[in-house]
Amino acid sequence: MAPLLLVFLLFSLSGADNTSPEILLTLCGSNKTSNAQAFDINFVNSMELIYQNITDHGYGVAVSGTSDTVFGIGQCFNYLSSVNCQLCYAESRVKLPHCLPATDSRIYLDGCFLRYSDRNVSTQSTDLKDTSICGNSSTVIPSTSTVTSLLKNITEAALNNSNYYAAASASVSSDLTVYGMAQCWKSLNLSGCRDCLEKAVSNVSHCLPASDGKGLNAGCFVRYSTEPFYLSSSSSGGGSSSGRILAVVLGCVAAAVVVIGVAIWWMRRRGAHDSSDDEDGSGEFIRSIAGSHLSFKYEVLSKATDNFSQINKLGHGGYGSVYKGVLPDGREVAVKRLFLNTRQWVDQFFNEVSLISQVQHKNLVKLLGCSVEGPESLLVYEYLCNTSLDKFLFDSFKKTALDWERRFDIILGTAEGIAYLHTAAQVRIIHRDIKASNVLLDERFRPKIADFGLARYFAEGQSHLSTGLAGTFGYMAPEYIVHGQLSEKADTYSYGILVLEIITGRKNQNSVATSTDGHSLISLIWKHYTEKTLIELLDPNLQGQCSEEQALKIFHIGLLCAQASSGLRPHMWKVVEMLMSKSQDLPLPTQPPFINIKGADVCSSSGSGSSYKYTSSSKSGHSVNQMSVSQMQGR
Ligand SMILES: *[C@@H]1O[C@H](CO)[C@@H](O)[C@H](O)[C@H]1NC(C)=O
Ligand SMILES: *[C@@H]1O[C@H](CO)[C@@H](O)[C@H](O)[C@H]1NC(C)=O
Ligand SMILES: *[C@@H]1O[C@H](CO)[C@@H](O)[C@H](O)[C@H]1NC(C)=O
Ligand SMILES: *[C@@H]1O[C@H](CO)[C@@H](O)[C@H](O)[C@H]1NC(C)=O
Ligand SMILES: *[C@@H]1O[C@H](CO)[C@@H](O)[C@H](O)[C@H]1NC(C)=O
Ligand SMILES: *[C@@H]1O[C@H](CO)[C@@H](O)[C@H](O)[C@H]1NC(C)=O
Ligand SMILES: *[C@@H]1O[C@H](CO)[C@@H](O)[C@H](O)[C@H]1NC(C)=O
Ligand SMILES: *[C@@H]1O[C@H](CO)[C@@H](O)[C@H](O)[C@H]1NC(C)=O
Repeated sequence: MAPLLLVFLLFSLSGADNTSPEILLTLCGSNKTSNAQAFDINFVNSMELIYQNITDHGYGVAVSGTSDTVFGIGQCFNYLSSVNCQLCYAESRVKLPHCLPATDSRIYLDGCFLRYSDRNVSTQSTDLKDTSICGNSSTVIPSTSTVTSLLKNITEAALNNSNYYAAASASVSSDLTVYGMAQCWKSLNLSGCRDCLEKAVSNVSHCLPASDGKGLNAGCFVRYSTEPFYLSSSSSGGGSSSGRILAVVLGCVAAAVVVIGVAIWWMRRRGAHDSSDDEDGSGEFIRSIAGSHLSFKYEVLSKATDNFSQINKLGHGGYGSVYKGVLPDGREVAVKRLFLNTRQWVDQFFNEVSLISQVQHKNLVKLLGCSVEGPESLLVYEYLCNTSLDKFLFDSFKKTALDWERRFDIILGTAEGIAYLHTAAQVRIIHRDIKASNVLLDERFRPKIADFGLARYFAEGQSHLSTGLAGTFGYMAPEYIVHGQLSEKADTYSYGILVLEIITGRKNQNSVATSTDGHSLISLIWKHYTEKTLIELLDPNLQGQCSEEQALKIFHIGLLCAQASSGLRPHMWKVVEMLMSKSQDLPLPTQPPFINIKGADVCSSSGSGSSYKYTSSSKSGHSVNQMSVSQMQGR
């Protein structure tokens, strides 16, 4: 995901061009799935599989699930560059789920197509929902026969082309040119493609003499326009794909240089002048930051990290690589080199840094400042000698360092840190990416959460690449993965997964595929929970260090946090309270998501939704019904 982010961010730098592709049409089916939960999971899985292939090939088909199966097909139009294709896919991936729980929906964007269905529709070329959209402008095309001929020609050319794509232009008059393109999805056979294109051309011809017409069929897309639409979206045009990528990158670098130049000029100018020309006072603000303790000199940080030498590299997180550095005064720091050179939004970025630097808590990694005047943007954090939790937890030798007491302190401290972000901080922050590698450990193994705040800055308003979301699979809450709904409860979910990893010493699988197959850590935990054998999953290294009751309580809290329904998950301050209290009646956890797909109704039995008191011998019937469990007690 990181290199992708890089490309994306580089791309964003090129400025002018980073608007989202226009949505042409969304068609949501009228039939509804009977098992929304299982269908959603298969939907997510299919979209993830398509994502992998659309990135590489501009096209992907996928099928997921044995029951409540979801087929998916995604196709970028060949005129999109690889980066624009990813952006287009990301946009459609975010918008298409609005159709759920419909069983069959599709979306056409200006550049790509995405569809899911409960049936195998990959070879479907036409259907009843095929339609056309005619442009509405005062321009009319005087000679419609030229357009008809052009459409006929590109149809033949597309059928003659192995990727079923063609684009061409023809001049109608001395000052009017018409552009046309045709694209079939790669999964069609030749006759299917022909049927589809012929139907689309015939329909789109009804738009004439309007200046723009689009045919949107089940298996293809045809468009003509007086606008050179397929030229503006591609990069340098022609050439190999690697050549195009190179062109994009070079273009971005050139754009970056220009942006940086402008920014430096602007800052100098701002710096040289009085604040009299500040309309909003942001110039003043920047100056005050530049002179404040938050500002670090690039040369100092470069020297501190030995010119960002590989030896000093601590890791590679979201937004950038991290290096260890020693400041001239002997202080050890961690320096993050941002992929994104944020000069474009330099004042907002300062603003964000100064806000985040005020968010201070014993369980949050401290942001010491930033450097913006050098060739790249850097963030400076306190240095923590024991790196991150995952390095210990998932290493069979090093995990022995994490005894019960330390693990409990990590569980509690992490909860406190997140609770602080959610409630007490000056700015409410949803972390979005709570996971073992984002929990850093100091010399006494006290936890400190890293990488908060920036998500807020970078993610705002942008649809994300990858799955269309920020975060890490395996830790992401289902409502966030499927619908993009983000609330504090998404962090609670991730925290729940983390707690279960800490107590079992096992890693939750990161892929949707494994979790839907029922092999995920939480499905295993749930199975043992229903069989009342949870204690068997306690990390063997912890055996004898804690009572069974203590261990079960942690399992229970983890399960409460990882419930499928976000409304049932506790707030983080409540989690802290649960952890601290000696005896507390906790509500029963309901089933976590992503499990028992194959026999969903077998395992969710029913029972009273009351409380479950901790005693290791308690074997009372505690089966659960997702629908009937009452509200969390207390708020
Ligand atoms: C909707 O469901 C009905 C009844 O099951 C079925 O006949 C029809 O083909 C479905 N329509 C679509 C678009 O799947
Ligand atoms: C992706 O493409 C590769 C090669 O074209 C193919 O082998 C693989 O099955 C595809 N995967 C998916 C999920 O479509
Ligand atoms: C969908 O159907 C086509 C043709 O019937 C077949 O080639 C393809 O393998 C099917 N795809 C899946 C995922 O079943
Ligand atoms: C092409 O695909 C269609 C739809 O799947 C099918 O009906 C037709 O037989 C196929 N034609 C050839 C030549 O394979
Ligand atoms: C056509 O576009 C004009 C302005 O662009 C708008 O006022 C008018 O309502 C549109 N007509 C239709 C039928 O969409
Ligand atoms: C379509 O192709 C024919 C034959 O190649 C050519 O004569 C004609 O000019 C083309 N029409 C357009 C509009 O390009
Ligand atoms: C299709 O391709 C063949 C050879 O590649 C060429 O001879 C033929 O003229 C092409 N037909 C069209 C309509 O472009
Ligand atoms: C598309 O063409 C078909 C016949 O070719 C016609 O029945 C249908 O109404 C047309 N649809 C549109 C939106 O033009």
